[in-house]
This record gives sequence, structure tokens and C-alpha cells, in this order.
Amino acid sequence: MSHEQRFLRPNVIIEPLVDRFYAWLHTVAPVQASMNLAFRQLPNLESYLQSPQMHVAASNNPDLRGGYFINIAEERADEVRDLVAAIKRDRAPMLRFAEAVMRADALVRDEAAGFDLTPLYPRLPDELNGVVEIAYDTGNQPTVRFMEPLAYRSGAYAEQRQSVQLSLEPGVERPFVLSTPRLPGPDKLDLDLALRHGGLDELFAARLRPTTVARLREALEVPDEQVAQLERLLTDAPGQSEDRHIEAGGRVRYYGHACVLLQSPDAAVLTDPFINCDTNSTGRYLLNDLPDHIDLALITHGHQDHTVLETLLQLRGRIGAVVVPRTSRGNLCDPSIGLYLKTIGFNVIEADDFDEVELPGGKVTATPFLGEHCDLDIRGKSTYWVELAGKKFFIGADSSGIDPVLYRYVRADLGRADMAFLGMECDGAPLTWLYQPLLTRPVTKKMSDSRKLSGSNAEQAAGIVTELGAGEAYIYAMGEEEWLGHIMATSYRPDSYQLQQVEVFLGWCADNGVKAEHLLGQREWRW
Ligand SMILES: [Fe+2]
Ligand SMILES: [Fe+2]
Repeated sequence: MSHEQRFLRPNVIIEPLVDRFYAWLHTVAPVQASMNLAFRQLPNLESYLQSPQMHVAASNNPDLRGGYFINIAEERADEVRDLVAAIKRDRAPMLRFAEAVMRADALVRDEAAGFDLTPLYPRLPDELNGVVEIAYDTGNQPTVRFMEPLAYRSGAYAEQRQSVQLSLEPGVERPFVLSTPRLPGPDKLDLDLALRHGGLDELFAARLRPTTVARLREALEVPDEQVAQLERLLTDAPGQSEDRHIEAGGRVRYYGHACVLLQSPDAAVLTDPFINCDTNSTGRYLLNDLPDHIDLALITHGHQDHTVLETLLQLRGRIGAVVVPRTSRGNLCDPSIGLYLKTIGFNVIEADDFDEVELPGGKVTATPFLGEHCDLDIRGKSTYWVELAGKKFFIGADSSGIDPVLYRYVRADLGRADMAFLGMECDGAPLTWLYQPLLTRPVTKKMSDSRKLSGSNAEQAAGIVTELGAGEAYIYAMGEEEWLGHIMATSYRPDSYQLQQVEVFLGWCADNGVKAEHLLGQREWRW
């Protein structure tokens, strides 16, 4: 039985976890993970224990969608209590590190007044010794800079936090993942594996090539009592789409949100990989529609809907390299996307603006990304220019048209884009929704609400298209597809500002001879 050939079922999902919370850049990168654990996740768990009913009610209130509430039934509160105790016991170094960051920030704020900084080093908290540098900018504003590769080697990074939970996609909207820890369940396969564990690549290779239960048991170190859960994930039927490769010309397939596959017979480029697994749904491409090999995966920025580990992990063994924007190397708000992905086993290429990456019969150029990060000093963001199968594509993600002249530089260097993909989520979440745990000084609600995670509105999108001289404009990355609610938690109504702005922009395109479309779900272009 355990030697029969098996494929992975098409609707298998993986949730990468750290201390049972959903793993993403800010919960894995050590400095930011420590801050999130100390100042958001642990306080939230303690608040839940005070009033589980309030958390469950708030989680199910549509008006509070995307709020940081814990959606665990009161009957399981004891498991949450155990989790709190384990975090306090096992993650004490991370919690101390987070407190040390706050103390260092206060020290520097109070004492660095433009004079020599040498006397401050002995006064830094011990936890930060060797992993930070204090520096002024040229306006005498002091800041603490983190040497991230060293932080990964410090007590702030604990690989033992990591695990994965595998299950079959339920076919209904998954609960919001950023706030609620994932508890074990009878229909889940929980494996205590580091995210870089090679057994995961062997598991996901079984989408393409059959394997045996025995092999996977060994590769994934599955304990005897969980073998039945492993077997549930497997099938004897291959599930790959027949038309996943092309023989001639070029093809673009839109997979939803910011995920676009650009293909020639010789190469494939996938942007911001985030792919649904729900095989009950129609009208969207799924993982089994992807070509067997993806030369480059392009990551535009670190937001949880663009650097999506649950999709990336499934493709790790099939991606030649992940291209990521180079970050600032040490800003508290700007963890290195490259280091994060490299540490968990990806082959990574870090690119600065106008750096080029070759691919068979084509080329990718990293281009600048403006705004959409609440005016924080975050450089870990890039748009991309892709030349493939005789066409030029601009992958704009959430980059803002707040200063469209930027795109004039892109055009001067690279020419005119045949197809431009632009994000128009122009009324995003406020500063504190994503960044609160990293803020070392309080912000007022008014400040936070004035600094949103917003892409381009109609006027800004029109500015981008004008400067790029793009012949075709496609609106994407709006977070509208219902299958991504677990990550995005966006809720649109027909009269939402964003959708109205899309209509205004489409009207502008029609008046100005630009072919334009609002993408949703699935779309294919072939030439
Ligand atoms: Fe974003
Ligand atoms: Fe986005």
C-alpha cells in the first residue's frame, strides 16, 4: 500500500507557522518578529484569555473584518493559555530583544543630541550588543540600525518556532490568518519542520511526479499517528493541466490579485506568486496550471499579499530564482526580503533600481516603486519591466503615481510598455494596521489615518500611463477575489471609492485611446 505511486491532491494547502501564528515577513525576520510577538501577538492572546467571547464575536462581525481578534471557540481557551505559557517560557529571548529595541530607541532619542555617539554604546541593552549601530542622518536625527544577518544569528531568531500545517482547502472562505493562531485539528497534518526543510520540496514535487507514502513519511519525518493525515493529501490521479506549457509565441495568464504568469516556449516569469487552491471554484487558474519550471518569480514588496509564503513554499523546488528588491539594510520598518527568503531555502537575486536579470529569450529589469508604505522609509519595494516573447510588460504592483515623473525615467531607459499592470487599491489600511508593533513612538489615530497603504487613484494611474506611454493598461492587485480574504480582508461595495476610481480611470483611458481593463479572477492573452 505505502509503495503505490501517489500525487499530491490539487487542493492541498500549507500554512507556514511560527509559534502557531501565520508566518510572513514581519513574523519571521528576527527583529520585526520579536516586536510583533511582544507588542501584538502576545498582548492579543492575553486579551483573548480575558474575554474569549468578545474576540469570537468581533471576529464574526463583518464591520470588524481584518481586525486583530482571535477567532478560537471558548472551549479551546486552555490551548491558548498553554500557547501563552510556552511563548513566555521558550521565547523569552525574543521578548527581551523587543523590549531592548524600545529602550535603545528611547536612549538614542533622549541622549543623542548631535555629539559623539561613542558613550552611548555601553549603555545599550545587552540584547542588542553586536547587532546594532547608532548613526545620525545629515540632519542630526539619530537612529538605531540593525545588522540583520547578525540578528538572524542572535537569540531573536528561533527556528524552533517554525512548523507547517497541511490540509485540504475547505472550499469556503478561509478565516483571516494574521491574527488567529492555528491550532491542531483532526483534519490537519501538523509537522514540526523548519520552513527550509527539504522534505517540503519533495512533497510539492509530487504535484508533478508521483511518489510513495513511504518516501514522503521519511522525507517529512511524519510520526506514525499522523500517517493517515498524510495519506488524505494524496491521490493516484495526476492533476497537471495539459496546456501548462506553450509551443510557440507568447502567453500571459492572470491568476488573480497581483499574480501574473508571463510565458514563452523557453521561459516563464511569475509575479507576486499567490495562487488559489480551491478546485471547487471555476474561473481562475490554479497551481496545476503552472509550467513545470518557473525561471524567475518577481517579488514587488514585502506586504503579506505580495510575498506569500504559502504559495512560494509550494513552488520552491520549481523556481530558478526569486528576484526581490534590495532593502535599506537595517531600518526597523524595512526587513530584508532577500535574507528572509534565503534563510528559508530560496535561491534569491536582490535587485536595485535598473538592475537587470537575464532569462532565456528575455530580460527583467527592476524599476522604482513609489509610496504605498505609509511614508515609512522602506526601500524593499520594486516594480519590474519584463521583456519576453517580443513584448514589453510593466509590472507596477501597488506603486503610486504620486509623482508620475518617475515613470518618465523608466520610459527613457526602457522604451514604451506594451502592457502595464497597475494596482489601484487607493484607500488602503492605515499605518497602524500593519506597522503598529514596529512603532517605537506613539502615533495619533489622526496621523495613522492620514498615512494609508494606498496605491494609485484615477488621476495618479492616468499619470503613470501617460508617462510610460503604455498602449494597454490593466488594473489588478485590488484584493477583490473572494478566495484571498484570509490574507487581505478587504471588503468592497459597488460604491467603494476604489471601484469608483477604477471607473474614472477606465473612462480616461477610453478618452485617450488607451486599451484598458479591470482584471478580476482570470484572464489570458495569447500572441
Ligand atoms: Fe502593498
Ligand atoms: Fe497589495
